[in-house]
Amino acid sequence: MIRFENVTKRYPNQSRPALDEIDLNIERGEFVFVVGASGSGKSTLVRLTIREEVVSSGRLLVGGHDLRRMPQRKVPQLRRQVGTIFQDFRLLPNKTVQQNVAYALQVIGRPRRAIRALVPETLELVGLAGMEKRMPHELSGGEQQRVAIARAVVNKPPVLLADEPTGNLDPATSLDIVRLLRRIHDSGTTIVMATHDNVIVDELQKRVVELEAGHIIRDEEGGSYVPKAVDTRDLEEHETEREDVGEGSGPPPEDRPIGEVGALDAWDDDAEDLLR
Ligand SMILES: Nc1ncnc2c1ncn2[C@@H]1O[C@H](COP(=O)(O)OP(=O)(O)OP(=O)(O)O)[C@@H](O)[C@H]1O
Ligand SMILES: [Mg+2]
Repeated sequence: MIRFENVTKRYPNQSRPALDEIDLNIERGEFVFVVGASGSGKSTLVRLTIREEVVSSGRLLVGGHDLRRMPQRKVPQLRRQVGTIFQDFRLLPNKTVQQNVAYALQVIGRPRRAIRALVPETLELVGLAGMEKRMPHELSGGEQQRVAIARAVVNKPPVLLADEPTGNLDPATSLDIVRLLRRIHDSGTTIVMATHDNVIVDELQKRVVELEAGHIIRDEEGGSYVPKAVDTRDLEEHETEREDVGEGSGPPPEDRPIGEVGALDAWDDDAEDLLR
């Protein structure tokens, strides 16, 4: 679904590339953490994927579309299929919670009837029912990030990119947010999340891609924030831990998606067209 082929990204006047000949393939339905030190290229990877930046060389395919060749007029269509959330929430400060979420649908010309149905359903999904009329400044950081998530997923994009979405949140709130992302993932959304948060990466045990100075130095299924030790005794311990976490068996029943999340499975025709 997202494929980097020998991708290099150079910013003007920088001595080394931000991403240096990377190869990475993310399949539909995956949950991938992108980790690495500050400046290693995580945000660049996200910005390339929504065509906020263009690759310098190599190919980046999203849903089979080569983003370097994609005409500018098609970029809004790409961004409808790839929702994004950021560390700083980026809400519209003068709009209420429900207006922030509705706005994402208005700008793409969805009819009023669809908006009236989708907004409450999505606010319910992210746990904000009852807060529809609040302004962003009347919300905690965690609540603001939930609004941002609602806005990113209200159009049911097949892909959600998150660039350090918990960077401004305390540890407990961060875990709540990432559990919400896990529910959205469980309903079929592909998620790529750049993060510095070792607790979250270790809790979810998903695929971990580690960048260092623009290179992929690790790509590990069921990974932790730091690489697993090579000592075989340690490996055995990790195996046991992983069984406890039960990656294959999914989240505990109370954490499984409920009815309304299933709605995220239903892509519109545009999505099918773009992300075949
Ligand atoms: N707009 C830009 N112009 C020039 N250089 C940039 C630009 N954006 C990023 N860079 C450089 O590209 C490299 C990768 O930056 P990037 O923001 O992708 O890192 P990051 O892994 O997201 O870091 P952080 O963890 O601090 O967010 C860094 O060396 C950075 O200085
Ligand atoms: Mg960054």
